[in-house]
Amino acid sequence: LIFSVHYVQIQTKNVTRLCHTKSLLTVNGQYPGPTLFAREGDRVVVKVTNHIPNNVTIHWHGIRQLRSAWADGPAYVTQCPIQTGQSYVYKFTIKGQRGTLWWHAHISWLRASLYGPIIIYPKKHASYPFPKPHQEVPILFGEWWNANTETVINQAMQNGGGPNVSDAYTINGLPGFLYNCSAKHTFRLKVIPAKTYLFRIINAALNDELFFAIANHTLTVVETDAVYVKPFQTNVILISPGQTTNVLFTAKSQPAPNATFLMSARPYVTGTGTFDNSTTVGILEYVSTNVRSANSSLSLFPVMKPTLPALNDTSFAANFSQKIRSLGSKKFPAAVPQKVDRQFLFTVGLGLNPCPKGQTCQGPNGTKFAASINNISFVLPTTALLQAHFFSQSKGVYTTSFPDNPPFHFNYTGAPPNNTRTLNDTRLKVVPFNSSIQLVLQDTSIVGPESHPLHLHGFNFFVVGQGVGNYNVTTDPSNFNLVDPPERNTVGVPSGGWVALRFRADNPGVWFMHCHLEVHTSWGLKMAWVVLNGNGKSQSLPPPPKDLPSC
Ligand code: C2O
Repeated sequence: LIFSVHYVQIQTKNVTRLCHTKSLLTVNGQYPGPTLFAREGDRVVVKVTNHIPNNVTIHWHGIRQLRSAWADGPAYVTQCPIQTGQSYVYKFTIKGQRGTLWWHAHISWLRASLYGPIIIYPKKHASYPFPKPHQEVPILFGEWWNANTETVINQAMQNGGGPNVSDAYTINGLPGFLYNCSAKHTFRLKVIPAKTYLFRIINAALNDELFFAIANHTLTVVETDAVYVKPFQTNVILISPGQTTNVLFTAKSQPAPNATFLMSARPYVTGTGTFDNSTTVGILEYVSTNVRSANSSLSLFPVMKPTLPALNDTSFAANFSQKIRSLGSKKFPAAVPQKVDRQFLFTVGLGLNPCPKGQTCQGPNGTKFAASINNISFVLPTTALLQAHFFSQSKGVYTTSFPDNPPFHFNYTGAPPNNTRTLNDTRLKVVPFNSSIQLVLQDTSIVGPESHPLHLHGFNFFVVGQGVGNYNVTTDPSNFNLVDPPERNTVGVPSGGWVALRFRADNPGVWFMHCHLEVHTSWGLKMAWVVLNGNGKSQSLPPPPKDLPSC
């Protein structure tokens, strides 16, 4: 067992982008934050100290946290936040996972600047199931606001309207030269002809699914959400907030002299309302080409631009997700639950609630935007759910009455129903240890069909089916892929469609599930599962660490 100990200081730092300087929340003064390197089997210990005025927590997105739910990180779910001047030590062991994941703040919208990669190498002497790359390069997408994050949240929450859209998308914190004032804030990557690279791509954007491509080059997808997949080639990838995708990239053996290849990312948008359709670019160039300074005019050189799908290309999205299959090899089998103990159908979507007295709301017709799962807009408590559960103190904190099915016919019809209201409550769903769960997520059309990247903490699930329109409980299961479905922690519920997931509830604790579009999470598109202890110590959650923050 290897211990890696990290000290993390959350502090403010002045950062300039788009000619705007603002005081940014950072980890150790870095934006984006530092990479957490580990190896499968490692014990990871991270001491997080809060030096900012805000409460904060850190979540290790995609880490299974087997028997270590106390280290998962979502505020008011598994822990109370770390207050100013306080510390908390996150301790967990990485079991049965290797690949790319990421960490981010998990309170309010602080993940806007508090995020970074987690790179888990295979065990010593173990290798990748693909040729060893010459070099590995993390590529993180993010969003930059000139305004304060607080102002952005208030717009979405207090005014009840859509959030202010970000001023730029970024690649590794850099907007790229297409944006105002950003020529020197452009990500540049130099590659050697004929060499193969592993790009570890992470979508840390707050509110946008993104297309990504590199001009004149194909990408070979080899891993999604830290699970190996059957390799496939594509010109473009689609990646939702929360997801990670590893691709192999082989540099041309004889690139055109001086050619510059742009890498671009731009949103995939299926909803209505205001959004930013701008493009972040980075520059890929060959070491053989003339070295030019960061400020030299690009127009002197041939610049190849990639073509990205249309903003709302739902058929690209459907085809792309169909191509992702678990590797399912002897060494890396796909352990898909073949039979199911518990079945659930959850609707996910937006709603419109009346504007509270004394407020002016900016939603359609003066309403306030809401979002829900099975019509419940989840309300976080002011204490932590996991503690309440562990110490049997749920009274006044939550109930266990989360509905197994939509409360009324509430699924995708293509037209909004009359009742668009949601119910605000804190309801959890309890399942026994080791039960195998089938969960169908159905997009609604209350405000309009929209794709929702749903993320489940504490588990990987298998995406056994997907489709457009309404899920059909009698005919659709016969088409489920129970052989090599993708295994992930975040899945895009298709716009006006559904996905069917299966997972084994083998991890006791309280586990958050939510849309990874931050604005939808804030509007209530979230809930939590309680997975009970099994028999004996090995199937039970140990008591909390002594330094677990209190509220
Ligand atoms: Cu990446 Cu609950 O989050």
